[in-house]
Amino acid sequence: MLKRAKISVIGAGNIGGECARSLAMKELGDVVLLDIPNKEKPELHMPRGKALDLACCGPVEKFDARITGTFEYADIADSDVVVVTAGLPRRPGMSRDDLVQVNAGIVKNVSENIKKYAPNAIVIVVSNPLDAMVYVAWKVTGFPANRVMGQAGALDVARYKTFLAWELGVSVEDIQGLLLGGHGDDMVPLPRRTSVNGIPITDLLAADKIAACVERAKGGGGEVVKMMGTSAWYAPSAGTVEMVEAIVRDKKRVIACAGYCEDEFGVAPGAKGKGYFVGVPCVLGAKGVEKIIGFKMDETEQKFMNESISHVKDLVGVVGKLYPELA
Ligand code: NAI
Ligand code: 2OP
Repeated sequence: MLKRAKISVIGAGNIGGECARSLAMKELGDVVLLDIPNKEKPELHMPRGKALDLACCGPVEKFDARITGTFEYADIADSDVVVVTAGLPRRPGMSRDDLVQVNAGIVKNVSENIKKYAPNAIVIVVSNPLDAMVYVAWKVTGFPANRVMGQAGALDVARYKTFLAWELGVSVEDIQGLLLGGHGDDMVPLPRRTSVNGIPITDLLAADKIAACVERAKGGGGEVVKMMGTSAWYAPSAGTVEMVEAIVRDKKRVIACAGYCEDEFGVAPGAKGKGYFVGVPCVLGAKGVEKIIGFKMDETEQKFMNESISHVKDLVGVVGKLYPELA
């Protein structure tokens, strides 16, 4: 019998709520929103309230999806996909890395529950600092690496394309491009490989204009934090849902996401089982990360990639100090 996909979203805050809305609107499956009780106000049930509010969009938006809110991990049983958005977001003046101490503990706890209650799920981590949190989820669940990945590239690329489209005065749909590396200010731009429907942007824009778009994409998260006092949620959710859709519909989309690498892009050459999660072009389908598309970078690109990889390794090192069993 055919069944709808079941997608659980852990953390029903800004990103979790918006993910749930968009997953339902696209009818990608039934959605379970899970959060923790509010200690100061135990009478509240925020995930259940959000789920009820969202469910009542159905008749207007014309979607059929069951949305439920819960505090109980048993409700995520048999999930096909679990999205992890639990954790603190950035506040003004904070970097993503400042979140590692608190969020590593949260993601560890969430991952233990995913392992127990949804052992066959594909896991997409969104919590920051992203590349280290995916690593935590992979280590704790013990899932094969193709079933654990992080969302960051989809967002960073979306920002990059947006700024380029504005600069060029063309539709955002007609920009093709990638940003690789970790989800930090040292993400790796690839302007040589960015085009407007195949026309290289290096033929269309001056180098300083391209550099400005790259810099704005790199700082895009911080730009929003400064204005809103917390981190972005619409575009991060859109990027996450793009990944869920590729998996649930087995689309084989090529999306930049934090995928497990050893030899790929020189991340951890020869380190069998001791690789890292870094933003790379991944083929996403029903099995999760079905393939990583490698290509030869030029010297400058590889230099940026190496710097970004080294930052990811430092962050994972911090996790290892906090939780030696995850090192
Ligand atoms: P938020 O504060 O609105 O929501 C986080 C939710 O997690 C809260 O509802 C909180 O109660 C819940 N939570 C905390 N501990 C939990 C636990 N142990 N189990 C289950 N739920 C728990 O934050 P927002 O804006 O939704 O951001 C979520 C995370 O995503 C943050 O770490 C943020 O830095 C990160 N982020 C990642 C991006 C990316 O592209 N990868 C982009 C933007 C933010
Ligand atoms: C963002 O890029 C803070 O990671 C978050 O918006």
